[in-house]
Amino acid sequence: MHILVTGGAGYIGSHTVVSLIEEGHSVVVVDNLSNSQLSALDSVKKITGKDIPFYHVDVTVESELEKVFQAHSFDGLIHFAGLKAVGESVEKPLAYYYNNLVSTMVLAKLAQAYGVNRFVFSSSATVYGDNQVPFHEGLDLLPTTNPYGETKAMSERILSDAAKANPNFAVSILRYFNPVGAHESGLIGESPNGIPNNLMPFVTQVAKGKLKQLRVFGNDYDTVDGTGVRDYIHVVDLAEGHVAALNHLTEGAHIFNLGTGKGTSVLELVEAFEKANEIEVPYEIVDRRPGDIASCYAEASKAKKELGWTAKKGIVEMCRDSWKFEKNFQG
Ligand code: NAD
Ligand code: WQD
Repeated sequence: MHILVTGGAGYIGSHTVVSLIEEGHSVVVVDNLSNSQLSALDSVKKITGKDIPFYHVDVTVESELEKVFQAHSFDGLIHFAGLKAVGESVEKPLAYYYNNLVSTMVLAKLAQAYGVNRFVFSSSATVYGDNQVPFHEGLDLLPTTNPYGETKAMSERILSDAAKANPNFAVSILRYFNPVGAHESGLIGESPNGIPNNLMPFVTQVAKGKLKQLRVFGNDYDTVDGTGVRDYIHVVDLAEGHVAALNHLTEGAHIFNLGTGKGTSVLELVEAFEKANEIEVPYEIVDRRPGDIASCYAEASKAKKELGWTAKKGIVEMCRDSWKFEKNFQG
């Protein structure tokens, strides 16, 4: 299939471009490079041997995006483009609502106008809010604590309604848990701007000596050791989940968790990282981070049953590949 990937220069997008090409699809990337660099696509070329047609376009600008639809005949698309920093979304709610909602609406409108009926959307486990774990797709969504999470819940509703109104439109809504890791080549991975918000990039930067020590946000949660529990998923597994979703699209909007189904605490992750890479990660326990929940992990059986997909890589590979990328990364 010929696939449009929005946000394809970013962390999850670039890994998914690799998986799509490895599965024999051809890909066109659109990205405004607001949180990525074009060099990621050079690395994708090194890995796959394929040039990736690229358009430096903002997905919210319909007239620009339409030119891409005019130049190609797509069979489907994957929509990664979006702003994703939870804390920043609290400070700049309008920027988040505008970027994440307008991009989804413009893209859905053009997809329908050009008869591109296969639509895969990046959602997030954050839409579950503080529900009872494990999170399954049938749960009523609880309000999230931040505008970012709201943009994902609203985008899900917009796409579901669009699918209801158009019997040809097939939408896969993928709720990711906590993506970590990097391609085994070490050529692509996650390189956040500034001080990382997420645990794994913080850990790799402490290991590298770029940051002094990890701050563990709370050890008084009702979890195995008091620290927060999350369902970390290797980004290459996640990328393969998108290919499976594209291959199994059927009319209507269908929601899938992409997680491992296994929870890991902050301290368990730190210990696994130290062991896998034989390197120390100094840490201190500090107060809870506002807005955090104790536990978040997936009920992952629906994707297995309906997409034939399960995550294969464990926490050791996640830690090893994250570190391999960080060691290589010049930034
Ligand atoms: P990322 O920031 O690395 O990638 C997003 C890409 O979209 C970037 O390359 C950015 O430049 C681009 N972009 C943003 N707004 C755009 C616009 N208006 N037009 C064109 N390009 C635009 O983030 P990621 O981690 O790869 O996340 C990809 C998607 O998955 C996002 O929608 C994110 O919300 C979602 N998601 C991420 C996580 C996570 O923890 N990484 C978890 C759940 C869901
Ligand atoms: C994981 C655990 C922290 C950093 C966020 C978004 C979510 C999704 C994924 C996009 C928690 C603890 C963290 C640190 C720590 N993104 N931690 N010290 O919060 O589960 O999810 O990213 O959709 O929407 O909210 O991920 O990696 O920030 O935190 O102790 O320096 O690590 O408290 O328990 P989170 P995270």
